Amino acid sequence: MVQRPNIDKSVITSHYATREKHDKRKKIRKVLNPPFEIHEEALQSLNLAGDESILDVGCGDGEILLGLSKSHQGRLVGLDLNPGMFQEALQLQSQRLSAHPVEFIEGSAEALPFEPGSFDLITAFFMLYHLPDLERALSEFQRVLKENGRLLVTAMGGLTPFNPNIQYQLDPSSVVVENVEEKLAKFFRLERKYVYRGSAEIKDAGSFLEALDSMRDFFVPAPDDEAWKLFLNAQRDRVEKKIKLEGSIQDRVVLGYFIFSKN
Ligand SMILES: C[S@@+](CC[C@H](N)C(=O)[O-])C[C@H]1O[C@@H](n2cnc3c(N)ncnc32)[C@H](O)[C@@H]1O
Repeated sequence: MVQRPNIDKSVITSHYATREKHDKRKKIRKVLNPPFEIHEEALQSLNLAGDESILDVGCGDGEILLGLSKSHQGRLVGLDLNPGMFQEALQLQSQRLSAHPVEFIEGSAEALPFEPGSFDLITAFFMLYHLPDLERALSEFQRVLKENGRLLVTAMGGLTPFNPNIQYQLDPSSVVVENVEEKLAKFFRLERKYVYRGSAEIKDAGSFLEALDSMRDFFVPAPDDEAWKLFLNAQRDRVEKKIKLEGSIQDRVVLGYFIFSKN
């Protein structure tokens, strides 16, 4: 049987118990060449009126919603399986009494605690590949969206991020840029998409290795401690040499955002 640690609930729960590992990977998004802030650009492309009710499923650290709350007037809800991810956002939110509120809720994409037709927009940034029962989640998205509601999804390209030549891979049957439309077709119709093809330009070996290390939980075959140590050391040598010779390493990055309407 193919191992799929990226959808194993115990792996997801311990991996995202705090935002630490996710924060290490976020740094890599800041060194894209050409620059690309996928969350902001995807939201801008929606031309929001400002009064939409929005549910961010797998909201993680809650940054997107806190950003939106500075100007948005509609209901803003963030839901995540792991409340440790949005703990800081929740505290910040309680200190900003005058700001537009964001509701942060612990819950699962597969059983949304909302009435039918509650939202104008659902966003699912980099989270569909963690769902063991994608169809169940998509039918929940469809149920809680209004009739003319929209769904915004982001995904990564199918190759292992950072370096396609390393011996560990992410689960190839996950939701990736190349198959988003097909995987959602039963419930949603694609209205628009944008696929970014660029590279991460890494000048600092330390942050590259931290980001790579943070992915360990999701790689197949699952590396044991010794193999992982050897692997990281080999990567350190490769990356440090290249940075010394060429000033940086460049790894291919493919990211996409997709806007859907209900079937
Ligand atoms: C890669 S992070 C993305 C976080 C955020 N959306 C972003 O783009 O920065 C994936 C998030 O999905 C959450 N998640 C995974 N499975 C989930 C589920 N079944 N229901 C709700 N959230 C889930 C994780 O806890 C984690 O916070």
